[in-house]
Amino acid sequence: MQTILITGGAGFIGSHLTRLFVTKYPHYRIVNVDSLTYAGNLANLKDIESAPNYTFVKADITDMNAMQQLFQQFHFTGVLHCAAESHVDRSITDPLSFVKTNVLGTATLLQVAKEAWKTDFNGKLFYHISTDEVYGSLGDTGFFHEHTSYDPRSPYSASKASSDHFVRAYYHTFDLPVKISNCSNNYGPYHFPEKLIPLSINNIINNRPLPVYGKGENIRDWLFVEDHVNAIDLIYHNGKIGETYNIGGHNEWTNINLIKELCRQMDAKLNRPAGSSLQLITFVKDRAGHDQRYAIDATKLKNELGWIPSLQFEEGLAKTIDWYLNNSNWLNEVVTGHYQEYYDKQYH
Ligand code: NAD
Ligand code: TYD
Repeated sequence: MQTILITGGAGFIGSHLTRLFVTKYPHYRIVNVDSLTYAGNLANLKDIESAPNYTFVKADITDMNAMQQLFQQFHFTGVLHCAAESHVDRSITDPLSFVKTNVLGTATLLQVAKEAWKTDFNGKLFYHISTDEVYGSLGDTGFFHEHTSYDPRSPYSASKASSDHFVRAYYHTFDLPVKISNCSNNYGPYHFPEKLIPLSINNIINNRPLPVYGKGENIRDWLFVEDHVNAIDLIYHNGKIGETYNIGGHNEWTNINLIKELCRQMDAKLNRPAGSSLQLITFVKDRAGHDQRYAIDATKLKNELGWIPSLQFEEGLAKTIDWYLNNSNWLNEVVTGHYQEYYDKQYH
């Protein structure tokens, strides 16, 4: 019997991870702790909220007393740590909230886990979910490997790099059993529409401008979110303690080509004349310190655990667009109120 704490389970990746563990492992007890920031949404978990092995607790990971109480109450055997501030643009306008949640929050959880588990680390695991952005920015060639030096360049990636360092420090100093994975850009259902793909889908639906930073030539390596959480599942159960695994799609797209593909697919699905959504593309001021290229080498994960992505990008994108078109209630609820304020500030 395992009792697992998932942090940030009401967010994008966390909700997919929670759904996977709750449904695939009915004999595990899953406790989702989330403070429900603007990015947390319990509607992401509607289909599993009544599952007998699932519990939601609203709490902040930086609140040490609350985290201690949770560990006392549930006797966790594992932690899947997803909670974070995750949007680079917000980290430029409000860096300190990233330091608080991503650095202090992670250190708080590590300390609480270490104290709760100190009599016996056997069978325990602290799994930290991180990003390829900690490695910095690539030129035209090369890939991020597990041994690539850290070179974070945005407040977001700096805070995630710092959290990764704390996780390794607790492994080396205290023997806390940890694992880390660093993944490339995810996309899929329940993605908050401040990130490139869901923002563009929402804007195409509503015939609004598609903001492209700079010349649109920055490159990201996109992975369908369900492939990411399947990799986490494999690493959680079969990966080696103390190890880091890179997760990525070998699927590099310039932002402009990605948006053109999105326009192509959406014009067809919305029965609009081919090429009409391309008219919405609008080049805007570049992001400060914009990383040029991310690309992951996931060979270690393939060789050690047999993981490869299951979906081609065009197929994953089609599934994602269909989900947004079929879930307009979710989308319309998310883009009211605070989202609109954020959007107006960021883009006008
Ligand atoms: P998200 O912003 O969609 O969700 C974050 C969740 O954490 C939200 O539910 C939010 O309410 C919660 N949260 C934030 N601060 C909290 C706090 N102080 N206490 C408790 N809960 C809090 O993020 P995401 O895109 O799902 O990313 C999840 C994790 O995966 C992050 O650690 C991120 O760095 C990492 N990651 C994301 C991507 C990506 O492309 N989205 C890629 C690689 C790694
Ligand atoms: P984003 O989805 O914010 O992810 P990240 O910055 O973590 O990679 O952005 C993906 C890429 O798209 C990135 O190069 C920035 C760019 N971008 C735009 O061109 N316009 C936008 O409105 C947004 C949100 C991002």
